[in-house]
Amino acid sequence: MYKLQNIDIAVFLRDYWQQKPLLIRQGFKDFQDPIDEHELAGLTEEESVDSRIVNNQDGKWAVEHGPYDDINSHCLGQWSLLVQSVDHYVPDADSLMNTFDFIPVWRMDDLMVSYSNTGAGVGPHLDQYDVFIIQGKGSRRWQVGLPSHYETIRPHRDLSQVTGFEPIIDEVLSAGDIIYIPANHPHNGVALEPCMNYSVGFRAPSQQEMLSSFADYAIDHNTLTQRYKDEALSPREFTGEIKQQEVAQFKALLMQMLQSEQFDQWLPVFLSDNKKADDESNQQIEEFSQQAIIDMLNSGEYFHRNLGVKPIFVEPTTIDKLSIQTFTFYIEGESYSGPAASADIVKKFLSEPFISETVGEIQYSQHQDFTALLTLLVNNGHWYIED
Ligand code: SIN
Ligand code: CO
Repeated sequence: MYKLQNIDIAVFLRDYWQQKPLLIRQGFKDFQDPIDEHELAGLTEEESVDSRIVNNQDGKWAVEHGPYDDINSHCLGQWSLLVQSVDHYVPDADSLMNTFDFIPVWRMDDLMVSYSNTGAGVGPHLDQYDVFIIQGKGSRRWQVGLPSHYETIRPHRDLSQVTGFEPIIDEVLSAGDIIYIPANHPHNGVALEPCMNYSVGFRAPSQQEMLSSFADYAIDHNTLTQRYKDEALSPREFTGEIKQQEVAQFKALLMQMLQSEQFDQWLPVFLSDNKKADDESNQQIEEFSQQAIIDMLNSGEYFHRNLGVKPIFVEPTTIDKLSIQTFTFYIEGESYSGPAASADIVKKFLSEPFISETVGEIQYSQHQDFTALLTLLVNNGHWYIED
């Protein structure tokens, strides 16, 4: 449904991604909003949906978090309603986000949707993550500057802004235009009329987050339990002194963890762990047998990947390529394996938003290993059968 245009992906990745902002005029031709403001407001009634309203009334900023009992009572002055992870709830929002999958899906976070009334915005600020902002209906003036040491202000405890940036982009966007803003580039969007914006956000784990997750993984799997061991201890003048050679030994012990096979096992689990995946995807009530799945494939049913499901897998090493027996992929922190012989079929299947009995050369129901896997994925709520 959505087709990205007016961008040369190879040039973009080489010259802009994580380097400089870029305005892409009419990145989507005849852009149709995947959701309207009423549906967006409807989403915020759900407890599980992360939403906020940022408003500015007579120069005073406020932030209110959803869910709301009475949303209208927060829509005061100039206001924006911002809703996270709309790709998990609205199929067309998921499709819109997936047009940016020239960036690996394990780098993608979510699609945030905002609706702003005239004059509204969240103020000039920096984000720690890269973002593509798509202009939906209405128009908005976007200013983007370069990274620098800006003074941060907090006009409200939940609102961080910066002051005094010089825009290098200052343009009015209309429906279908896209602006790419790299992390830490100050920006400010002010609605010139009531408008919708769609932000494709990315994840970039920090060392802290990785260490913490890796430590949890090691504890859960009762692994990496090796302890520090003295190497040729000799009498020393000061008992409190840590020798440089001992510092090096501690470092080596930790470095070993990064070289371990546990690290290789943890990384795709961590990168596939999409915390925001809503619970509904796990609420498959009916359990299907493999035969039932084969029968449904044969009778022409469509199998759809659930919203927000982004399978990932690791490129095999050269040694793996020669010896590997299984193909493993990861969804929401869980691993799934099948024989290496069906890896090509499975990879193709994982990249399709939906499949039916035959796609191209592949006749899915004929592959026992594949249908076993599909059965598991359906029963775990990652794929569903179209009614
Ligand atoms: C928005 O208001 O839609 C986006 C806010 C931003 O991150 O600049
Ligand atoms: Co921003």
